[in-house]
Amino acid sequence: MNSSSFPLRPESLPRHIAMIMDGNGRWAKKRALNRIRGHREGVESVRDIVRACREIGIEFLTLYAFSTENWLRPALEVSALMRLLKEFLESELSEMMENGIRLTAIGDIGRLPEDVLNVLHEVMERTRENQGMVLNLALSYGGRDEIVRAAQNIAIQVKEGRLHPEEISKEVFSNYLDTHGMPEPDLLIRTSGEMRISNFLLWQIAYAEIFVTQTLWPEFRREELIRILHDYQDRERRFGMTGDQMRKSSTGGEIKKRLQKDNG
Ligand code: FPP
Repeated sequence: MNSSSFPLRPESLPRHIAMIMDGNGRWAKKRALNRIRGHREGVESVRDIVRACREIGIEFLTLYAFSTENWLRPALEVSALMRLLKEFLESELSEMMENGIRLTAIGDIGRLPEDVLNVLHEVMERTRENQGMVLNLALSYGGRDEIVRAAQNIAIQVKEGRLHPEEISKEVFSNYLDTHGMPEPDLLIRTSGEMRISNFLLWQIAYAEIFVTQTLWPEFRREELIRILHDYQDRERRFGMTGDQMRKSSTGGEIKKRLQKDNG
Protein backbone atom coordinates (compact mmCIF):
# COMPACT_ATOMS: atom_id res chain seq x y z
CA MET A 1 0.00 0.00 0.00
CA ASN A 2 1.56 3.37 -0.86
CA SER A 3 1.24 6.39 1.41
CA SER A 4 -1.38 8.00 -0.88
CA SER A 5 -3.84 5.24 0.09
CA PHE A 6 -3.97 6.68 3.64
CA PRO A 7 -6.27 9.62 4.21
CA LEU A 8 -4.63 12.99 4.75
CA ARG A 9 -4.83 14.37 8.30
CA PRO A 10 -7.15 17.41 8.08
CA GLU A 11 -5.55 19.06 11.14
CA SER A 12 -2.14 19.27 9.49
CA LEU A 13 -3.04 20.29 5.95
CA PRO A 14 -1.36 23.41 4.58
CA ARG A 15 -3.76 26.36 4.80
CA HIS A 16 -2.11 28.00 1.82
CA ILE A 17 -0.43 26.28 -1.14
CA ALA A 18 1.50 28.29 -3.74
CA MET A 19 2.47 26.80 -7.10
CA ILE A 20 4.99 27.71 -9.78
CA MET A 21 3.45 26.11 -12.86
CA ASP A 22 6.47 25.42 -15.04
CA GLY A 23 7.14 23.18 -18.02
CA ASN A 24 4.32 23.91 -20.48
CA GLY A 25 6.83 24.71 -23.25
CA ARG A 26 8.87 21.55 -22.66
CA TRP A 27 5.71 19.42 -22.58
CA ALA A 28 4.80 20.77 -26.01
CA LYS A 29 8.33 20.44 -27.40
CA LYS A 30 8.51 16.76 -26.40
CA ARG A 31 5.43 16.20 -28.57
CA ALA A 32 6.56 18.45 -31.44
CA LEU A 33 3.67 20.81 -30.68
CA ASN A 34 3.83 24.55 -30.40
CA ARG A 35 4.25 26.17 -26.97
CA ILE A 36 0.68 27.47 -26.96
CA ARG A 37 -0.60 23.87 -27.00
CA GLY A 38 1.47 23.34 -23.85
CA HIS A 39 -0.20 26.29 -22.15
CA ARG A 40 -3.61 25.03 -23.26
CA GLU A 41 -2.94 21.65 -21.68
CA GLY A 42 -1.62 23.53 -18.64
CA VAL A 43 -5.08 25.05 -18.17
CA GLU A 44 -6.46 21.48 -17.80
CA SER A 45 -4.03 20.94 -14.92
CA VAL A 46 -5.18 24.23 -13.39
CA ARG A 47 -8.80 23.01 -13.50
CA ASP A 48 -7.93 19.65 -11.94
CA ILE A 49 -5.73 21.14 -9.21
CA VAL A 50 -8.27 23.83 -8.25
CA ARG A 51 -11.00 21.17 -7.91
CA ALA A 52 -8.71 18.87 -5.94
CA CYS A 53 -7.63 21.62 -3.53
CA ARG A 54 -11.26 22.59 -2.93
CA GLU A 55 -12.21 18.96 -2.25
CA ILE A 56 -9.23 18.37 0.04
CA GLY A 57 -10.03 21.47 2.10
CA ILE A 58 -7.19 23.84 1.21
CA GLU A 59 -8.15 27.41 2.15
CA PHE A 60 -5.86 29.39 -0.20
CA LEU A 61 -4.31 28.35 -3.50
CA THR A 62 -1.98 30.83 -5.24
CA LEU A 63 -0.98 30.06 -8.83
CA TYR A 64 1.86 31.85 -10.63
CA ALA A 65 0.06 32.34 -13.94
CA PHE A 66 2.02 35.23 -15.47
CA SER A 67 5.14 36.99 -14.19
CA THR A 68 6.38 40.53 -14.76
CA GLU A 69 9.17 38.91 -16.82
CA ASN A 70 6.67 36.99 -18.97
CA TRP A 71 5.78 40.28 -20.73
CA LEU A 72 9.13 39.87 -22.53
CA ARG A 73 8.05 36.63 -24.27
CA PRO A 74 7.17 36.74 -28.00
CA ALA A 75 4.04 38.86 -28.55
CA LEU A 76 2.12 35.87 -29.95
CA GLU A 77 2.76 33.80 -26.83
CA VAL A 78 1.79 36.72 -24.54
CA SER A 79 -1.48 37.24 -26.40
CA ALA A 80 -2.22 33.49 -26.36
CA LEU A 81 -1.67 33.39 -22.60
CA MET A 82 -3.98 36.38 -22.15
CA ARG A 83 -6.64 34.69 -24.28
CA LEU A 84 -6.35 31.46 -22.28
CA LEU A 85 -6.66 33.40 -19.05
CA LYS A 86 -9.77 35.19 -20.23
CA GLU A 87 -11.34 31.94 -21.48
CA PHE A 88 -10.53 30.26 -18.18
CA LEU A 89 -12.15 33.04 -16.15
CA GLU A 90 -15.26 33.01 -18.33
CA SER A 91 -15.64 29.24 -18.37
CA GLU A 92 -14.95 28.67 -14.66
CA LEU A 93 -17.22 31.30 -13.14
CA SER A 94 -20.21 28.98 -12.77
CA GLU A 95 -18.11 26.24 -11.17
CA MET A 96 -16.52 28.78 -8.83
CA MET A 97 -19.99 29.84 -7.73
CA GLU A 98 -21.12 26.22 -7.26
CA ASN A 99 -18.06 25.33 -5.24
CA GLY A 100 -17.83 28.50 -3.18
CA ILE A 101 -14.51 29.61 -4.66
CA ARG A 102 -13.52 33.24 -4.32
CA LEU A 103 -11.16 34.58 -6.99
CA THR A 104 -8.50 37.13 -6.07
CA ALA A 105 -5.44 38.40 -7.94
CA ILE A 106 -2.02 39.72 -6.96
CA GLY A 107 0.46 41.58 -9.15
CA ASP A 108 0.53 44.71 -11.25
CA ILE A 109 -2.80 43.80 -12.84
CA GLY A 110 -3.26 47.26 -14.33
CA ARG A 111 -0.86 46.12 -17.09
CA LEU A 112 -3.29 43.43 -18.30
CA PRO A 113 -5.20 44.11 -21.54
CA GLU A 114 -8.48 45.89 -20.89
CA ASP A 115 -10.75 42.99 -21.93
CA VAL A 116 -8.91 40.56 -19.62
CA LEU A 117 -8.95 43.08 -16.78
CA ASN A 118 -12.70 43.61 -17.19
CA VAL A 119 -13.44 39.87 -16.95
CA LEU A 120 -11.04 39.53 -14.03
CA HIS A 121 -12.77 42.35 -12.12
CA GLU A 122 -16.17 40.87 -12.88
CA VAL A 123 -15.24 37.38 -11.64
CA MET A 124 -13.59 38.82 -8.52
CA GLU A 125 -16.70 40.87 -7.81
CA ARG A 126 -19.16 38.03 -8.46
CA THR A 127 -17.22 35.57 -6.25
CA ARG A 128 -16.28 37.95 -3.42
CA GLU A 129 -18.76 36.49 -0.89
CA ASN A 130 -17.73 32.86 -1.55
CA GLN A 131 -16.29 31.17 1.52
CA GLY A 132 -15.10 27.73 0.37
CA MET A 133 -11.59 28.49 -0.90
CA VAL A 134 -9.61 31.44 -2.24
CA LEU A 135 -8.10 30.94 -5.70
CA ASN A 136 -5.47 33.65 -5.93
CA LEU A 137 -3.93 34.23 -9.36
CA ALA A 138 -0.52 35.89 -9.59
CA LEU A 139 -0.81 37.95 -12.79
CA SER A 140 1.83 40.34 -14.06
CA TYR A 141 3.36 39.43 -10.73
CA GLY A 142 6.93 39.84 -9.50
CA GLY A 143 8.00 39.55 -5.87
CA ARG A 144 10.47 42.44 -6.10
CA ASP A 145 7.92 44.57 -7.91
CA GLU A 146 5.38 43.87 -5.15
CA ILE A 147 7.90 44.81 -2.43
CA VAL A 148 8.85 48.04 -4.24
CA ARG A 149 5.18 48.99 -4.65
CA ALA A 150 4.63 48.33 -0.93
CA ALA A 151 7.66 50.51 -0.05
CA GLN A 152 6.37 53.32 -2.27
CA ASN A 153 2.95 53.22 -0.62
CA ILE A 154 4.50 53.21 2.85
CA ALA A 155 6.68 56.20 1.85
CA ILE A 156 3.56 58.09 0.77
CA GLN A 157 1.91 57.40 4.14
CA VAL A 158 5.02 58.61 5.97
CA LYS A 159 5.30 61.71 3.78
CA GLU A 160 1.67 62.59 4.44
CA GLY A 161 2.18 62.15 8.17
CA ARG A 162 -0.16 59.15 8.54
CA LEU A 163 2.59 56.71 9.54
CA HIS A 164 5.78 57.15 11.59
CA PRO A 165 8.93 55.32 10.40
CA GLU A 166 9.26 53.62 13.80
CA GLU A 167 5.77 52.13 13.36
CA ILE A 168 6.94 50.14 10.31
CA SER A 169 7.15 46.56 11.58
CA LYS A 170 7.10 43.28 9.66
CA GLU A 171 3.37 43.13 10.36
CA VAL A 172 2.75 46.65 9.02
CA PHE A 173 4.95 45.99 5.98
CA SER A 174 3.08 42.82 5.07
CA ASN A 175 -0.19 44.75 5.20
CA TYR A 176 1.05 46.76 2.22
CA LEU A 177 1.78 43.67 0.12
CA ASP A 178 -0.72 42.39 -2.46
CA THR A 179 -1.30 39.33 -0.24
CA HIS A 180 -2.49 41.33 2.79
CA GLY A 181 -5.12 39.44 4.73
CA MET A 182 -3.92 36.02 3.51
CA PRO A 183 -1.88 33.59 5.59
CA GLU A 184 1.62 32.96 4.22
CA PRO A 185 2.05 29.87 2.02
CA ASP A 186 2.84 26.76 4.07
CA LEU A 187 3.82 24.81 0.98
CA LEU A 188 5.41 25.92 -2.30
CA ILE A 189 5.30 23.46 -5.18
CA ARG A 190 7.30 23.94 -8.37
CA THR A 191 6.88 21.65 -11.35
CA SER A 192 9.41 20.66 -14.03
CA GLY A 193 12.46 20.30 -11.83
CA GLU A 194 14.08 23.75 -11.77
CA MET A 195 15.47 24.67 -8.33
CA ARG A 196 14.52 28.34 -8.49
CA ILE A 197 12.08 30.75 -6.85
CA SER A 198 11.78 32.93 -9.99
CA ASN A 199 10.75 36.11 -8.16
CA PHE A 200 7.64 34.46 -6.65
CA LEU A 201 6.28 35.58 -3.25
CA LEU A 202 9.75 36.54 -2.02
CA TRP A 203 8.56 37.93 1.31
CA GLN A 204 5.78 35.44 1.94
CA ILE A 205 7.68 32.13 1.50
CA ALA A 206 10.09 32.80 4.38
CA TYR A 207 8.97 29.61 6.18
CA ALA A 208 7.25 27.70 3.39
CA GLU A 209 8.08 24.04 2.83
CA ILE A 210 9.38 23.69 -0.72
CA PHE A 211 8.63 20.76 -2.98
CA VAL A 212 10.07 20.51 -6.49
CA THR A 213 8.75 17.79 -8.78
CA GLN A 214 10.22 16.75 -12.14
CA THR A 215 6.71 16.47 -13.60
CA LEU A 216 5.91 19.06 -16.26
CA TRP A 217 2.92 21.25 -15.36
CA PRO A 218 0.55 19.85 -18.04
CA GLU A 219 1.06 16.38 -16.50
CA PHE A 220 0.70 17.55 -12.89
CA ARG A 221 -2.64 16.29 -11.61
CA ARG A 222 -4.34 15.59 -8.29
CA GLU A 223 -2.72 12.16 -7.65
CA GLU A 224 0.69 13.80 -7.47
CA LEU A 225 -0.61 16.69 -5.38
CA ILE A 226 -1.93 14.16 -2.86
CA ARG A 227 1.47 12.41 -2.75
CA ILE A 228 3.13 15.77 -2.07
CA LEU A 229 0.62 16.53 0.70
CA HIS A 230 1.50 13.21 2.35
CA ASP A 231 5.16 14.17 2.15
CA TYR A 232 4.33 17.59 3.65
CA GLN A 233 2.51 15.96 6.54
CA ASP A 234 5.60 13.85 7.29
CA ARG A 235 7.85 16.90 7.53
CA GLU A 236 8.51 18.73 10.77
CA ARG A 237 8.19 22.50 10.50
CA ARG A 238 10.50 24.18 13.02
CA PHE A 239 10.41 27.90 12.15
CA GLY A 240 14.05 28.25 13.27
CA MET A 241 13.45 26.45 16.61
CA THR A 242 14.71 23.05 17.73
CA GLY A 243 12.64 19.93 17.11
CA ASP A 244 12.20 19.50 20.90
CA GLN A 245 10.83 23.04 21.26
CA MET A 246 8.32 22.52 18.47
CA ARG A 247 7.15 19.18 19.87
CA LYS A 248 6.38 20.80 23.25
CA SER A 249 2.95 21.93 22.23
CA SER A 250 2.91 25.11 24.36
CA THR A 251 6.20 26.45 22.91
CA GLY A 252 5.41 25.26 19.38
CA GLY A 253 1.94 26.81 19.43
CA GLU A 254 3.31 30.07 20.85
CA ILE A 255 5.98 30.32 18.12
CA LYS A 256 3.47 29.68 15.34
CA LYS A 257 1.13 32.31 16.79
CA ARG A 258 3.95 34.86 17.06
CA LEU A 259 5.03 34.27 13.46
CA GLN A 260 1.47 34.67 12.23
CA LYS A 261 1.13 37.92 14.16
CA ASP A 262 4.44 39.21 12.73
CA ASN A 263 3.25 38.48 9.26
CA GLY A 264 -0.17 40.01 9.41
C1 FPP B 1 5.59 28.24 -17.51
O1 FPP B 1 5.84 27.30 -18.52
C2 FPP B 1 4.20 28.63 -17.52
C3 FPP B 1 3.75 29.89 -17.77
C4 FPP B 1 4.65 31.00 -18.08
C5 FPP B 1 2.34 30.22 -17.80
C6 FPP B 1 1.44 29.37 -16.93
C7 FPP B 1 0.11 29.44 -17.54
C8 FPP B 1 -0.80 28.45 -17.57
C9 FPP B 1 -0.63 27.18 -16.87
C10 FPP B 1 -2.07 28.62 -18.34
C11 FPP B 1 -2.88 29.83 -18.05
C12 FPP B 1 -3.19 30.01 -16.62
C13 FPP B 1 -4.42 30.08 -16.07
C14 FPP B 1 -4.57 30.33 -14.61
C15 FPP B 1 -5.64 29.93 -16.85
P1 FPP B 1 6.97 27.64 -19.59
O2 FPP B 1 6.29 28.17 -20.79
O3 FPP B 1 8.00 28.55 -19.00
O4 FPP B 1 7.55 26.22 -19.84
P2 FPP B 1 9.06 25.87 -20.25
O5 FPP B 1 9.95 26.31 -19.11
O6 FPP B 1 9.03 24.39 -20.41
O7 FPP B 1 9.35 26.60 -21.54
